[in-house]
Amino acid sequence: MPLKTINPTQTKAWKKLSSHFNDIKNCHLKQWFDEDKNRADRFTIKWEDFYFDYSKNRINSETVKLLKELTEEIDLKDAISKYFSGDTINQTENRAVLHTALRLPQNSELIIDGKNIVSEINIVKAKMESFTNDIINGNRKGYTGKSFTDIVNIGIGGSDLGPSMIVEALQFYKNHLNTHFVSNIDGDHVNEVIKNLNPETTLFIIVSKSFATQETLTNATTIRQWLLQNLPKAAVSKHFVAVSSNIEKVKAFGIDESNIFPMWNWVGGRFSLWSAVGLSISLSVGYSNFESLLEGAHKMDEHFKNNPFDKNIAMIMACLSIWYNNFFEFETEAVVPYSQYLNRFPAYLQQAIMESNGKNVDRNGESIDYQTGTIVWGEPGTNAQHAFFQLMHQGTKTVPTDFIGFAKSLYGNTEHQDKLMSNFFAQTEALMNGKTKKQSKPYKAFEGNRPTNTILIKKLTPESLGKLVALYEHKLFVQGIIWNIFSYDQFGVELGKELAGNILQELNNSKKEDHDSSTVRLINYYKSLD
Ligand code: F6P
Repeated sequence: MPLKTINPTQTKAWKKLSSHFNDIKNCHLKQWFDEDKNRADRFTIKWEDFYFDYSKNRINSETVKLLKELTEEIDLKDAISKYFSGDTINQTENRAVLHTALRLPQNSELIIDGKNIVSEINIVKAKMESFTNDIINGNRKGYTGKSFTDIVNIGIGGSDLGPSMIVEALQFYKNHLNTHFVSNIDGDHVNEVIKNLNPETTLFIIVSKSFATQETLTNATTIRQWLLQNLPKAAVSKHFVAVSSNIEKVKAFGIDESNIFPMWNWVGGRFSLWSAVGLSISLSVGYSNFESLLEGAHKMDEHFKNNPFDKNIAMIMACLSIWYNNFFEFETEAVVPYSQYLNRFPAYLQQAIMESNGKNVDRNGESIDYQTGTIVWGEPGTNAQHAFFQLMHQGTKTVPTDFIGFAKSLYGNTEHQDKLMSNFFAQTEALMNGKTKKQSKPYKAFEGNRPTNTILIKKLTPESLGKLVALYEHKLFVQGIIWNIFSYDQFGVELGKELAGNILQELNNSKKEDHDSSTVRLINYYKSLD
């Protein structure tokens, strides 16, 4: 069944939210905290090892009630049931959206087109497990009989950002294998990666759902040529494996069928780290840690599916973001993890969120006259404090921010950890309170009232990381449903690819195209530098 197509701005709840917004837009958070000693308690959700405090947001109980009404009026419940049961909710590509199925327990059942897809998933997982074990313990060797020391993931977008973000985040749990990622078509990237590698001990994983992506195929071809400068052709089957849903194209590239890890068209690229796209994760931290990551995500799926609005972290986060995007009209939102391990988390979220919800046509095919897709950015704290926090505290823009922290450090250095966490707590307090004391110098005043969420997690583990990533997946799902858009296609990336293809032929002098005068001059200047 298709998703409902309700324009959110035409709902009663939206109209009530608009008038409520006018009532409270000038209220100061500090005053609310002063007046209500239970505010933090009322606006906190404790779930498993997560402590989610959203009390430092520009909301009161009425706001939460109206946001909940909005989710009821657009029938979020119906959308959630279609999402998890495999309805074709990616209607523009005629596909289901089932990354959540990849983390179902082994003995589950999910029947799609008469087949239990969990059995198919289990087969691929078993293949990943035995391959991972064979590489890690050295049973499977390279062409010259040496064990592998290095793994290179060749992919881009969802075939790179998810695995590379997780591998970096879980480096504490890593084994002896060195993991590298090649994504950019920039030839300097691939050359920098391969320059220190020994072809005899390196395994390459080509990851491309479509197996048609220019960057990935170009990098894979360059790497295969480099390998063949050092080893005979028969080495290719020992050193290359692929993850793809396009088996024929992979075989045409010269990879044995036994070296292909399949994926399905119901796994979107930016949600694919849970599939065989996560092979580099499994190789880096071992298969059981990869399973724990999936288990964490599954727990978050259950939390999201089963909890009422006011106990549901993803729903609250999604609606707060809509509150700021559509009512306050704040331009962007930031994600600041207080963990260097999560260095790539903001970049990962940029694809997940902005490729999903950057849409200007609604599910009726009509142009949209309200704001959708939020702009997401961020960097780890405390580094971010010494970079863009000035603007967050005193700039003319308000940037609602998620603060993500872990109570325990992995190496157990309490001195560093207490310093880190004191900054974590101080920043949200400062952003909220400001400094209202009369200042003789206006430059030293802080107006405060800057909203934040605090996500405090006990410890960074594969399981808690799985929960965190799934949380943001569900947040963006809820937002897409409310905005009445299709979150799971990405036609907006096609035009640039098409034009680049044409210009490439011009650079090779095999074609002449019409362009605007700026583009013509740029191309000519580039060619004149040959
Ligand atoms: O950037 C567009 C996109 O299609 C992403 O959605 C996807 O993650 C990426 O390209 C890579 O695609 P593939 O895995 O098919 O190479």
